Amino acid sequence: MIYLKIYKIRQFFLTPQYNLPKKDGDHVSLQPIIKLTPVIRFDTTAALRQHLAPLRSGQSIGLVPTMGALHEGHRSLIEAARRAGDLVVASVFVNPAQFNNPDDLARYPRSLDDDYQMLEAAGCDVVLAPSVTEVYPEPPTLRLNFGELETAMEGAFRPGHFNGVGIVVAKLLNIVQPHRAYFGQKDLQQVAVVRKLISDFSFPVELVRCSTVREADGLAMSSRNRNLTPEERALAPALHEALILAQDLLAEGQSTAQAKAAVTGFFSSNPNFRLEYVEIANADTLQPVGEVLAPGQTAICLAVYLGKVRLIDNVVF
Ligand code: PAJ
Repeated sequence: MIYLKIYKIRQFFLTPQYNLPKKDGDHVSLQPIIKLTPVIRFDTTAALRQHLAPLRSGQSIGLVPTMGALHEGHRSLIEAARRAGDLVVASVFVNPAQFNNPDDLARYPRSLDDDYQMLEAAGCDVVLAPSVTEVYPEPPTLRLNFGELETAMEGAFRPGHFNGVGIVVAKLLNIVQPHRAYFGQKDLQQVAVVRKLISDFSFPVELVRCSTVREADGLAMSSRNRNLTPEERALAPALHEALILAQDLLAEGQSTAQAKAAVTGFFSSNPNFRLEYVEIANADTLQPVGEVLAPGQTAICLAVYLGKVRLIDNVVF
């Protein structure tokens, strides 16, 4: 199996039509994946650009931005890009500009060697893992405003966070110039922010939203899960349980206020949790709603501190 890890045969060499960008939305395609190139690492944007330039003709490029400490959720984005037939470029960069809390940045888990292994095993073609000065030769002064997204949930509780996300994602889109960019539903509001960024700047890229990958007990995979103590990890599935509880109550016909109150009560009974927010919102605009919308349009989102670790999760139904 080792040779499979090192040399994977890429199917789109045989069928280049698979590389053409397809429609918007989640990509689910069962084409076999075969690939022949080892993962190539870059730490400078100039070298990456030079590498990608001759590969662009007749081949689509898929970008998977990450902050490393990779897990199965990240892997699912790489796999979605491979299934779409893209040349897969992942970035690993812990972006200081999006951390509004210095302790959170200091505690953010880093595991670059493991990340390279995971990316290679997942069939990623190219990795960009730049230094902070490579990405920010000077501190960014640009200010992005995502309108109503700034006042909802993560926008409200993490001031400046989406400005930092927007700047780094814009940089990555400019550096890689992908045909498609893959983001996880786990960070639903981030998907909306990136959609707005793409629209406002007319980036010629298709945004692909991929489903949240969960542990067997329902906990959404997250790099921050590594910072949980064993006791906290045992409690963490409560986030998903609370979301399912709220979804069930709404399905039974209870109001959004009742469903939110039930979630608040659920967490207040355990002192290990501190619920920051629970919101029932339009899954695209992330604006609060007072009733359930059409199928696939309603999101229940929450942020909870479990000890020092801040976790977010959502369900869309
Ligand atoms: P990071 O938290 O590393 O996540 C990278 C991508 O993986 C994001 O699109 C995120 O939504 C997705 N992801 C994380 N956990 C997931 C899960 N359990 N299932 C499916 N997808 C999941 O999000 C960021 O980094 C940064 O903000 C970034 C976009 C890289 C900009 O710095």
